[in-house]
Amino acid sequence: MSTFKAPKGTYDLIPPDSATYLAVREAIAAPLRNSGYGYIETPGFENVELFARGVGESTDIVTKEMYAFETKGGDRLALRPEGTASVLRAALEANLHKAGNLPVKLWYSGSYYRYERPQKGRYRHFSQVGAEAIGAEDPALDAELIILADQAYRSLGLRNFRILLNSLGDKECRPVYRAALQDFLRGLDLDEDTLRRSEINPLRVLDDKRDAVQKQLVGAPLLRDYLCDGCKTYHEEVRELITAAGVSFEDDPKLVRGLDYYTRTTFEFVHDGLGSQSAVGGGGRYDGLSEMIGGPALPSVGWALGVDRTVLALEAEGVELALPASTSVFAVPLGEEARRVLFAKVTELRKVGIAADFSFGGKGLKGAMKNANRSGARYTLVAGERDLAEGVVQLKDMESGEQVAIGVNEVVAELESRLG
Ligand code: HAM
Repeated sequence: MSTFKAPKGTYDLIPPDSATYLAVREAIAAPLRNSGYGYIETPGFENVELFARGVGESTDIVTKEMYAFETKGGDRLALRPEGTASVLRAALEANLHKAGNLPVKLWYSGSYYRYERPQKGRYRHFSQVGAEAIGAEDPALDAELIILADQAYRSLGLRNFRILLNSLGDKECRPVYRAALQDFLRGLDLDEDTLRRSEINPLRVLDDKRDAVQKQLVGAPLLRDYLCDGCKTYHEEVRELITAAGVSFEDDPKLVRGLDYYTRTTFEFVHDGLGSQSAVGGGGRYDGLSEMIGGPALPSVGWALGVDRTVLALEAEGVELALPASTSVFAVPLGEEARRVLFAKVTELRKVGIAADFSFGGKGLKGAMKNANRSGARYTLVAGERDLAEGVVQLKDMESGEQVAIGVNEVVAELESRLG
C-alpha cells in the first residue's frame, strides 16, 4: 500500500471486475449505435455558468454538489455533474442542428462528478452512458429512447427493474400547476427549509423522502390534473407507443427529477435490489434547455444510465455476464531459445487477432503454468530445448488436458482453426 488512497467517494476499477464495467458500457451503447446515434465526447469540465443555467440555480446539484473552481487564468469552471448541458452546448457550438438533419442523435460515455454524501451506489465520481436526441418534438422519439434503455437492460439479463413515467407539462401548464401546488404547500406545517424550497422549487417538495412530509402531501394537487391539451395528447401517445413495443411502465404522477430542465416526458429506471439509491437511470424531454443556454428553440429528449448502479443491479440479481476469456493462448517458454521462438509466435498470433499472452520474467515450468491457468487461456504453448530440436512445440488444451506436438511453423494455422 502506498501513502495514498483513492479520494473519499471514489473507487478504482480494477481487473477482473473492470471487465464487467466495460461490458455494461458496451451493452448500453449497442442499441444506440444500432439506432442512428453518433458518439460524442465533451470535456470533463465546462464553464460553471453552463450548469448553473442549464441544470438550475436552485437544484442540489448546482448549489451543493458541484466541483466548481477558479483556474489560474481566472476562468470559473466546474467538473461536469451531468452530460446533457455539455452535449447540447457542443452540438450548438458545432452547428450540428443546422446541418439540416434533425433530430441530431448523440450518445456518450464518461465520468461525472458530484460532491454528494458517499454511500453504496452514490459516489463522487461515477460513470454514465447517455443519449440525447436534439431538435425534434415527436412522441416516437421519447418512446424510442425508453425502448432502447429497456433493451439495453434486458440484454444484460436484468429483470427486476421498473420504469416510472410522468409528464412535467410545458411552459403553458406547469406555471398554473406550480401556483396551485404552492397554495397547497403554504397550508402545511413544514420546516423552514422546506417552506423556502416550496417558494423556489415547489415540485421538489413532492420528492421529499421524509415520511412526516409525505404524510402531509397526501391530497396535494397532481400535475397530471393540470396538463394542457397539447401535453396530455403528447403524453398519451408516448404511453401508447411504449406499450405497443411491449415495454411495461408505471405511471408515477409524483416523479420529479433533480434537474430543472425537464418538460413533458420524464422517466426513471429503478431497480428494487439497490436500497435507497434505486435509480439506475433517468431522463426526459428538455424542450427549453437550448434557449436557457443561449441557443435557438430545440426541443430535445434524452437519458443517462448509471454504469456503477447498473453493475450493482447485476450483482443484486446474481447475473454473471458471460465475458469471453481475455486470453486464448498462453505461451510458456523453457530456456532462452524457446523464449525467442515463442515470443515471436505470440506476436504472430496477436497479428492474426488471437488474444495471446506470454510468461514473462523467466519463471520455471510450475510458476508459468500457474500463470497460464490464471489467464483463463484455452490453450497453452509449451516449448523446451528438446521440442525445438525436433522443430515442434507442445500445444495443450487446458479444458481436456490433451497435449499434442505441433510443428513450429504450423502453430498459428492450427490455433486459428481450433479457435474458429
Ligand atoms: P440523473 O438522474 O441525475 O440524470 O443521473 C442519471 C443516472 O446517473 C442516475 O439514475 C444514476 O444511476 C447515476 N448517478 C447519478 N448520480 C450518481 C452518483 N452520485 N453515484 C452513482 N451514480 C449516479 C442526468 O444526469 C441527466 N443528464 C439525464 C438526462 C439525459 N436527461 C436528459 N438527457
